[in-house]
Amino acid sequence: MQSSLDRRPRQQGLHAAIIMDGNGRWASARGLPRGAGHRAGVKTIQRVAEVAPDLGIGTLTLYAFSSDNWRRPAEEVGGLMRLLRAYLRGETERLARTGTRLSVIGRRDRLPAGIPEAIARAEAATAAGDRLHLRIAVDYSSRDAILAAAARLGPEGLSREGLSGALGADGDVDLLIRTGGEKRLSDFLLWEAAYAELHFTDRMWPDFGTADLATAIADFSARDRRFGGLNVAAVPEAA
Ligand code: IPE
Ligand code: IPE
Ligand code: MG
Repeated sequence: MQSSLDRRPRQQGLHAAIIMDGNGRWASARGLPRGAGHRAGVKTIQRVAEVAPDLGIGTLTLYAFSSDNWRRPAEEVGGLMRLLRAYLRGETERLARTGTRLSVIGRRDRLPAGIPEAIARAEAATAAGDRLHLRIAVDYSSRDAILAAAARLGPEGLSREGLSGALGADGDVDLLIRTGGEKRLSDFLLWEAAYAELHFTDRMWPDFGTADLATAIADFSARDRRFGGLNVAAVPEAA
């Protein structure tokens, strides 16, 4: 059975998702504390969000903090939360000005005081943006998100479209990029990436630039996406 999920129209641009990995190793290689890598990583977010629409990306989902990242030392977690707070405070105006709609996905009930409110303010202030939908995943676990969505829908409401809607999926992921050299999903967008093309790069996230994103898009464009069917060119014409 062909689901409409597998045939999402393309006119709104690609949905690219990025597992922004390698900040800590980038910093360690320079003799810097891990936090310096995270600060440099925020600059990469700004760079990538600015150029993404020009490369045909309509939705960009970035993995900033996983639900498993709470396992890190309190000092590192605290630093990441401070960076999130500063990003929301410092970037909202620019995001609104550049037509970027910001959404934050993931749990909000475990975030430090004030951050859920700052997220809500940033989302409201950028709601009219139609150039890029920038989604940032914070305290995010794809397995938890799927479980919560299924529980909300109940057995009667369960369907592919229903679950996608309940996840706020904003369409399937077309291209999933992971920086930092690891080749794993780390509980990111497991449902939405069912037919995503995967692109792994050794580049550490703070070093990831416009040219790297362009390379990933070019790689994606050269892929033959079959969705379980056959490449039209490979099917011989009927005699
Ligand atoms: C990604 O970089 C950012 C977060 C997970 C918050 P890491 O902090 O995982 O960097 P590495 O993988 O240790 O180099
Ligand atoms: C995945 O990176 C999470 C984010 C990039 C936010 P991790 O560095 O936490 O993933 P693992 O531990 O290497 O799988
Ligand atoms: Mg990592």
